[in-house]
Amino acid sequence: MRVLITAGPTREPIDPVRYISNRSSGKMGYAIAEAALAAGHEVTLISGPVNLVPPRGAQFVSTLTSDEMDDAVHQHLRGCDVLVMCAAVADYKPAKVAAQKIKKRNKTLWLELTPTRDILTSLPKQDREFLTVGFAAETTNVERNAKKKLLEKNCDIIVANDVSSADLGMESDANEVTLFFRNGKTENISRAPKKNIARSLVKIFSNLREKSLTKKM
Ligand code: C5P
Repeated sequence: MRVLITAGPTREPIDPVRYISNRSSGKMGYAIAEAALAAGHEVTLISGPVNLVPPRGAQFVSTLTSDEMDDAVHQHLRGCDVLVMCAAVADYKPAKVAAQKIKKRNKTLWLELTPTRDILTSLPKQDREFLTVGFAAETTNVERNAKKKLLEKNCDIIVANDVSSADLGMESDANEVTLFFRNGKTENISRAPKKNIARSLVKIFSNLREKSLTKKM
């Protein structure tokens, strides 16, 4: 199976030295890439800026901004069996990037933000050859928001985690996730190191992909 994984944050520049980003460490996406490689799959990892070593054996694509990540996903999508959008893509970017460093002044500075391109919703809606997995990091109403995302972002699975507690999810080595499937089913993977969660996720993704292929035959 060919697995395309995005991981880490994106950086949206404000000026040559400043940017908007988020707290994603990339650990979950990298763990999924490693688990997929260990299971014998072919892996392309598209990664935002993180402090992690790319897994050996993966095709590695480094990106910074949401636009770069969007381009990279579209470039590498061909022939892919499973797309795992684990990256925490910034939802907004500065409307204008200042060419020079913005000078400090003793008054309010207004920053105009525009929505970034949503990578998942930009994918072809019909005749998809690949299983689409989105992630949802929520601090409130995890189930309601995940189910909404499943439909709006046209995913086969949403992997949702509650990032409101400090010792789980973002930046942490552990996670607890709930999977929401298109047919209404849900599955919980209880608290475990991200490496173990990743192994279970890869099994679930490859089984579902196999099933959908058998159905088409
Ligand atoms: O809407 P939200 O950012 O919470 O959705 C999370 C899911 O959508 C993740 O799978 C993320 O990789 C994806 N996403 C995207 N393009 C964006 C923002 C998020 O594909 N611009």
